Amino acid sequence: MTEPRRIIIDTDPGVDDAMAIFYALSSPELDVLGLTTVFGNATTETTTYNALALLQLAGRSDVPVARGADTPLVATYGGPVDFVHGADGQGNAGIPAPTASAVAESAAEFIVRSVMAAPGEITLVPVGPLTNIALAMRLEPKLTENLREIVLMGGNAFCPGNVNPSAEANIHNDPEAADIVFGADCPITMAGLDVTHKVQMTHADLARIGAMSNPRAEHLARILPCYVDFHTTYEGLDGIFVHDSTAVSYLLAPDAFTWEEAPIRVDCGQSFGRAKTIAGKGEGDSYAAWTPRRPVRILTGADSRRLVELELSRLAE
Ligand code: RIB
Ligand code: CA
Repeated sequence: MTEPRRIIIDTDPGVDDAMAIFYALSSPELDVLGLTTVFGNATTETTTYNALALLQLAGRSDVPVARGADTPLVATYGGPVDFVHGADGQGNAGIPAPTASAVAESAAEFIVRSVMAAPGEITLVPVGPLTNIALAMRLEPKLTENLREIVLMGGNAFCPGNVNPSAEANIHNDPEAADIVFGADCPITMAGLDVTHKVQMTHADLARIGAMSNPRAEHLARILPCYVDFHTTYEGLDGIFVHDSTAVSYLLAPDAFTWEEAPIRVDCGQSFGRAKTIAGKGEGDSYAAWTPRRPVRILTGADSRRLVELELSRLAE
């Protein structure tokens, strides 16, 4: 087997973040160098607590956690989404308190130090707002040329948003940061709603998690009901969308996906389109805002059953 792929997950746990973190930790193809935390599903204080607690529950307190931004670059944080992830970010089910603490470095400092010490080797996997990634790019202008790739969950290029018709939650939380990141000169793969709305776990899949006996699966079985209720009530779905784990699945099984390549701009205006990720593939003056940008790999399709089975097989181990 080739060397495990070295990744840093930037996360706002969050129920689906917890699934993605456990999925990555139980995949030998990946080496999770650290978790960096950000506001979004909950405050950064809560997401940092949850990140430490999730690692402890998975027996991986060796993985460092670096606390990140508490607020967006310029906008104001809209606050936790209790009705999706619970007031505690873990489905109102609680989680055993972590004994470890976050490292002294900020998320941006941790990302910069890690990437610059291993040129070309590290992949960032942001599954929350992109504030920490933008801050890291500002902190070290040479960061992007030393990154292997960014594989992010966020955005909606060819479909409506999930916060409103324009915006997906991670981009909505910090559009200005997202536009900085999508303008970076490094390989970027976007697992947006275009693909994550096509990767779904059914109630039968979720029941399989409930039947597993290991601390990770047992925790997910406790926190998922709140997330399932949101999907039933607000999405009219018989199950859940697999958002954050789909970024991990791409790292493990890229051949299970289809995609388009186009530069992305993010609407940072203050009107109805704010936070929309706009793909711009074309020539001429009308594409001037997009043309200078490196095309992003926009995931548009996936073999949902294959990915769900892969994730459940890792969770069962
Ligand atoms: O839109 C889905 C994204 O927003 C996921 O990352 C979920 O955890 C929330 O952060
Ligand atoms: Ca998330």
